[in-house]
Amino acid sequence: MDKLLIEGGKVLSGEVAMSGAKNAALPILCASLLTAEPVHFTNVPHLNDISTMLRLLGDMGVGVTMDGVDGLVLNGGGLNNPVASYEMVKTMRASILVLGPLVARGGEARVSLPGGCAIGARPVDQHIKGLQAMGAEVKVEQGYVHAKATRLKGARICTDMVTVTGTENLMMAACLAEGETIIENAAREPEVVDLANCLISMGARISGAGTDVIRIQGVDKLHGATHAIMPDRIETGTYLCAAAVTGGDIRLLKTSAAYLDTVVDKLMDAGCDITVERDAIHLVAPKRLKAVSLRTAPYPAFPTDMQAQFMAINCVADGVATIRETIFENRFMHVNELMRLGANIQIEGNNAIVRGVERLEGATVMATDLRASASLVIAALVADGETLIDRIYHLDRGYERIEEKLAKLGASVKRVH
Ligand code: EPZ
Repeated sequence: MDKLLIEGGKVLSGEVAMSGAKNAALPILCASLLTAEPVHFTNVPHLNDISTMLRLLGDMGVGVTMDGVDGLVLNGGGLNNPVASYEMVKTMRASILVLGPLVARGGEARVSLPGGCAIGARPVDQHIKGLQAMGAEVKVEQGYVHAKATRLKGARICTDMVTVTGTENLMMAACLAEGETIIENAAREPEVVDLANCLISMGARISGAGTDVIRIQGVDKLHGATHAIMPDRIETGTYLCAAAVTGGDIRLLKTSAAYLDTVVDKLMDAGCDITVERDAIHLVAPKRLKAVSLRTAPYPAFPTDMQAQFMAINCVADGVATIRETIFENRFMHVNELMRLGANIQIEGNNAIVRGVERLEGATVMATDLRASASLVIAALVADGETLIDRIYHLDRGYERIEEKLAKLGASVKRVH
């Protein structure tokens, strides 16, 4: 099992390019199931989750061919197996995103229930409720969601809570339904908008993506298209935090601050100077950050996927910060590991009180989930001495070539097998 060995104390500086967004690429790759024509994607990140999704789609009969460094062509013409097995789904919950497209395109889907994960139960009841509203017959048996429909019918759907992949699944299903579908209480995340833009380029009729009411007029068929995946805003935010905590000065390329307002605002409150260019962000950090409190909530509020990273920078900031997690019920798995490095954190329900300390001490720690592992990397960059991070397969799911990119910015980081 790979580990990361990090020698703390280096100030990050220089430039590095960001990759395409994992959470945009995952639903967008599933959109290839909606047409029999080839769809061409560029700026696809090289991540374990993406490889898993390509294996899953390949098992269903989708043709997958690489095209250059970050390009892919997916051909849904050969779709012949509407099953997402437990073996596949248990390694990546986002596999649930094939459910809506399979029912819409082929009239049937058998998708294993994802099961819980480290950060929470993460049920998919809203995905099922929405498909049932569109006329699908859905049974949950032996751990599988089995959905069937001759042709989905447009419906008015209001999800009980804001759900990103729920909105994405239902929006994809609605593209080929008969009539109009209205999704209320829809997720407004930029990745939902990127998916909508891709679907529209394939001939879908969608309006309102990015707002909490999305209208989709069903069409009979979708056609091929070319789509560039948007930059990864969470990867961007993660590197901004890494530079900020080391008192660094970095420029991140091939990215945009357009979708990171709340993260940029919080980093400026912490004392960073940030200048935003058209497709780059420049951050200059102070010697020591000021503590910043935050509360996670659906976009455009502070993203839950940046909560662990901000907890890490608050560990050595000047002052006390309160971090409130409102999306997932167990997204504080990084707290115990940060405390092994000397952090002073108290958990009270879904609040974490972080009292900044002067310094952290390197130690051996364990990654528990994707963003928790990112927070351990950030803390290790500023801790005295060496930190060894175990189970970094979590990191590899969502951060492309992280040790290369950090080393390019001057960090002392090594992958040890
Ligand atoms: C997406 O997960 C992201 N994953 C997550 O990123 C992100 O943390 C999350 O949205 C919130 O922004 C992808 O896009 C692939 P939700 P998703 O459905 O869609 C509850 C990362 O680090 N809920 O918006 O699974 C759910 O339990 C990952 O890249 C139901 O109860 O999240 C949660 O409490 C982690 N029933 C809340 O809603 C449902 O049917 C929000 O979940 C659906 C969701």
